[in-house]
Amino acid sequence: MWSEGNYPAIAEVLLPVARALVDACAISAGQELLDVAAGTGNVAVLAAEEGASVVASDLTPALIELGRARSAEAGLDIEWAEADAEALPFEDARFDCVTSSFGAMFAPRPEVVAREMFRVVRPGNTVGMANWTPEGFQGQLFARRSRYGPPLPEGVPPAGDWGREEVVRERFDGLAATVDLERRTVPFEAESPEALWSFFEENAGPAVMARKMLPETTYAEMREDGLALVREWNTAGDRSVVIDAEYLLVVARRRG
Ligand SMILES: C[S@@+](CC[C@H](N)C(=O)[O-])C[C@H]1O[C@@H](n2cnc3c(N)ncnc32)[C@H](O)[C@@H]1O
Repeated sequence: MWSEGNYPAIAEVLLPVARALVDACAISAGQELLDVAAGTGNVAVLAAEEGASVVASDLTPALIELGRARSAEAGLDIEWAEADAEALPFEDARFDCVTSSFGAMFAPRPEVVAREMFRVVRPGNTVGMANWTPEGFQGQLFARRSRYGPPLPEGVPPAGDWGREEVVRERFDGLAATVDLERRTVPFEAESPEALWSFFEENAGPAVMARKMLPETTYAEMREDGLALVREWNTAGDRSVVIDAEYLLVVARRRG
């Protein structure tokens, strides 16, 4: 699903979040970092530019290839690995820091993902995440879209639960000594609601898939519903679109 469309265009919009995550985790030279569900390497590239030694892992081979080309072009020595966030192929306590920006939140078994991220980070060190909140624009868009597609498989919680403070604390219970949480926003900008919709429809894997898979009339309804949401959230008036999309920035320390 994530290889559909043109993910690098989406990554560009999300780059400020990667910057915020790298800063919040205080990633610096000499550290060994794992970025989980790294996509095309937003966090990985910024962390490597800080001088960290970076491993970037993702489930989608096509995105890994794009990420590998991106890091090579930037002259950065990043190790790329194909890996499910629920089964990280790394030894216990290998990394100084483990991050995931809008990535691990999409794996179907959140408790397994939480265990894995804490397993591979050293005791006392940092696990950082950026997760869309269910109340923010992106979370609301997921909720609207989900009305039109097949329901989630039984037992799989909505990805947006990772954006709820109490859920993160519960999932990290027993793993983290401290959990710092902060809601922030990243801007989505376009010339019009239709232009913003087209941007996602052409570039974001899940949106591209929805357009391919849904019957035409169902997709048209979903689009109208989505456009109404964009208009509701737009803070730029009639002339263009600016939406501050909310996410939860998570910085936790593994128990010693
Ligand atoms: C929205 S993209 C985010 C990519 C990147 N972290 C960024 O900030 O641009 C979601 C990513 O999660 C990856 N992903 C989804 N489920 C995964 C899983 N179970 N294990 C590893 N990666 C996964 C997808 O392949 C995709 O690269």
